[in-house]
Amino acid sequence: MVFSRRAASSLVVYVFLFHIYILHSVDSQCPRQFQCGNLGNLEFPLANSPGCGLLPVDCGALPNPIIHLDNYPFSPSYEILKKSSPNELFIRSPFLERVLHNKEICNLFLRPPMPHFPSISMSFFPNITLFKCAKYINYDNEIPQDIYGNYDGCDSFNIYYPKSNGSLPPPKGCSALPLPSNLQCNSDSLDLFYRLSADYHLEWNVSVDCLNCHRGGGNCTTKTDNEFRCEKGTISL
Ligand SMILES: *[C@@H]1O[C@H](CO)[C@@H](O)[C@H](O)[C@H]1NC(C)=O
Ligand SMILES: *[C@@H]1O[C@H](CO)[C@@H](O)[C@H](O)[C@H]1NC(C)=O
Ligand SMILES: *[C@@H]1O[C@H](CO)[C@@H](O)[C@H](O)[C@H]1NC(C)=O
Ligand SMILES: *[C@@H]1O[C@H](CO)[C@@H](O)[C@H](O)[C@H]1NC(C)=O
Repeated sequence: MVFSRRAASSLVVYVFLFHIYILHSVDSQCPRQFQCGNLGNLEFPLANSPGCGLLPVDCGALPNPIIHLDNYPFSPSYEILKKSSPNELFIRSPFLERVLHNKEICNLFLRPPMPHFPSISMSFFPNITLFKCAKYINYDNEIPQDIYGNYDGCDSFNIYYPKSNGSLPPPKGCSALPLPSNLQCNSDSLDLFYRLSADYHLEWNVSVDCLNCHRGGGNCTTKTDNEFRCEKGTISL
């Protein structure tokens, strides 16, 4: 009785170890980590070889490695300035840099809203949320002028922005656009273009389903109905 129980438990251990061994050998087509320029090691969901991750990185790009976040949040590619942690980068958007330099902020509101990666949750910070509101409606009651500034340089709408740490929900009829904000600026009544920044932190978490899929040698994909799918090719466990 005792003997067979021990035998059974060692069989469990054996199967468990064997399973781990299989997972590892399947996974080994993609490196666990890869060295990327002066950033050190990066890991999934970042990848520098096709089919190994969800967010392609070009480590040879100059002056800094580039990460591709297809249409997230405002342009396809971003310079990576620093790796802050395994799931956080300090990045620069050349697109936003141009927007701020040329003061062409109106066009930002014409772009599609935040894209959606079903297997990854992302957030960027610090950030402030701008409101796009009708031009000839008075919002003095809904948007306190001591907390929010008003930018009226767009033809068909006005932009309201928090001067310091304001974070009201958008008033009725206004739409909200979160944008990266400046790390240094703290003082009140600032110009909109000094409140925004092209350099900011990006943090992500990969869903457990997708991590397990990746560890098992599969690809995280989505069907047209936005449902998560783990594609394992010809290999199946
Ligand atoms: C994952 O996708 C890549 C390219 O998209 C492909 O080369 C690879 O074979 C796929 N792997 C599996 C297990 O389907
Ligand atoms: C990622 O997960 C951590 C720990 O659970 C959480 O604190 C953080 O807010 C998450 N970030 C995102 C972007 O999902
Ligand atoms: C803005 O920053 C806050 C606090 O860091 C964060 O919780 C939120 O997810 C960010 N918003 C976006 C759109 O990333
Ligand atoms: C916003 O900043 C003011 C003064 O700087 C502070 O008193 C207030 O607590 C802050 N509010 C939030 C929500 O952080």
